[in-house]
Amino acid sequence: MCGITGYVGGREKSVRLVLDNLKKLEYRGYDSAGVAVVAADTHDVTVLKRQGKLGNLEAALDGLGAARGTVIAHTRWATHGRPSDGNAHPHCDCTGRIALIHNGIIENYLSLKERLLAEGHVFHSDTDTEVLAHLIESHLKRNGGKMEMAVRGALAEVTGAYAVCVVSEQEPETIYAAKTASPLIIGLGEGENFLASDIPAVMGHTRRVLVLEDGDFARITPDGVTLTTVAGEPITRDEFAVTWDVRTAEKGGYPHFMLKEIHDQPQTIRDTLRGRVTEGNQITFPELKLPTAKLLDFHRIVIVACGTAYHAGMVGKSFYEHLLRRPVEVQVASEFRYNDPIVDQHTLAIIISQSGETADTLAALREAKVKGATTLAIVNVVGSSIAREADEVIYTYAGLEISVASTKAYVSQLIALYLIGLYIAQQENKLDREVVAAYVEQLKALPRQVAQILTQADAIAELARPLAHSSSFFFLGRGFDYAVALEAALKLKEVSYIHAEAYAAGEMKHGPLALVEPGVSVVCFATQSALYDKMLSNVKEVKARDGAAIAVVKEGDEGLDARSVDSVIRIPGTHDTFMPVLAIIPAQLLAYHIAAALGREIDQPRNLAKSVTVE
Ligand code: G6P
Repeated sequence: MCGITGYVGGREKSVRLVLDNLKKLEYRGYDSAGVAVVAADTHDVTVLKRQGKLGNLEAALDGLGAARGTVIAHTRWATHGRPSDGNAHPHCDCTGRIALIHNGIIENYLSLKERLLAEGHVFHSDTDTEVLAHLIESHLKRNGGKMEMAVRGALAEVTGAYAVCVVSEQEPETIYAAKTASPLIIGLGEGENFLASDIPAVMGHTRRVLVLEDGDFARITPDGVTLTTVAGEPITRDEFAVTWDVRTAEKGGYPHFMLKEIHDQPQTIRDTLRGRVTEGNQITFPELKLPTAKLLDFHRIVIVACGTAYHAGMVGKSFYEHLLRRPVEVQVASEFRYNDPIVDQHTLAIIISQSGETADTLAALREAKVKGATTLAIVNVVGSSIAREADEVIYTYAGLEISVASTKAYVSQLIALYLIGLYIAQQENKLDREVVAAYVEQLKALPRQVAQILTQADAIAELARPLAHSSSFFFLGRGFDYAVALEAALKLKEVSYIHAEAYAAGEMKHGPLALVEPGVSVVCFATQSALYDKMLSNVKEVKARDGAAIAVVKEGDEGLDARSVDSVIRIPGTHDTFMPVLAIIPAQLLAYHIAAALGREIDQPRNLAKSVTVE
């Protein structure tokens, strides 16, 4: 979730201007910042970068604060390489005459880096991004010094996701920019142009915007913008007039970050999958150091986490037991240490945490290590305490999540858990290549299926409004749907403050059914093929007590309809084990719209914190 800003034009103090624009992107989160300027008079390229907040960079500006010229600036949210001055962007080639900033991941950076090292290039950071600067330099040498061709040539070699902006001494009044998968916009001015990864950054200067699409390549000078594909085919993009205010623009036009993050999820899934699936649809984890022999030696797996991450762990448990036929225990981190856990050197402890800083989860990680387990962390925030202390880390790449109630981080944790389970099964030869490939195909279809559910957002909002008057909620499910019910109930509690409980549907008649009466709403997840008929019976028990029943079912399952329940939400089908990714989406939307109908502080619910760093 890096932030990018840039400027070409004749204004005084253009470095200041670009850094002020960058401040408008602070909501995206970052751990370091940097700026490069090609001086208007000397054409020298100067780069300054600092770990930490933008204030650190500004404090170090000195004379650069008054500098005039072409500027690019960046806030970095670490992916490859820890937060540090050296890993901050911009990155330069060996000559220091080319500087670039990048948002995204260059997947094939290792092989490119090996080649460039063999050519004699010297690297100064641990980032994937720096490879691109040297690659441009390498192309420039080979093509006799044509900058545009060099940038195009380098980009053509890169796989992965990027929004990238390049400046050079050779063309002091030009920024080359390109994007695929990561956002980039151009703000159009008179005799000047602006670049940014999001619209709020340019709104103080212009409301005329070009939104670049995947595969676009732009040459930006003070006088204009030339758009082509990376290969050089001309393209046109319509100019767009921004009518929102800045706060709305930060949220991508949505009224709350939670809703934006719900809608981010197709991209989140792609980002978590990226680099972990081979062309032959097998699983690869280049970041894992764990030898396969060790992976096969684990007698048991223990999953430990808090809150939403714990609910993701419950899905992981069911998936691993189904796939690996090994005992898997899932524990709430705050209980783990005090339960005298059965953990030894034959245990794989999977620690899940969005922030990587949750105090109980960190303590559980340490406890597992002391007892001899191998620890594998599934974490979103790069360089966080849990990421640093675990033996192995799998990052979820969900980007910054601002809403306290987690949505996209949860879905990314599910994807990471599925990938790890499939990876172990693959390494164990438990599954044929074709079977792994079939699972992977279904994982790859999830972004499209989530997007399809999101097209029902308005209908779910309609459905939610009257439910806001419910006195309480039950969320019911069996098997994988039970884990979804737990997360769905948590979402509703967090943002609406309505009392909600999740039950394994078969347990209702052992007590909770006594509470069902008019005014109580019951959301029934019935997405598990083998348990569908059993769920039908449970739904009937609810309806017989005059509770309002809402069913979440797979398209094509007609057993629950308007005659048997009050409302039905139909979602696409996938392998039953992957249904949690799809089933949670309508529940997130329901929670959001019920909270909105009640006028709650959705992004920052009362009494709750995004990261709980006390026990
Ligand atoms: C808090 C957050 C939840 C989160 C939980 C665990 O309660 O509000 O959204 O699930 O902490 O956080 P972690 O960062 O460890 O995933």
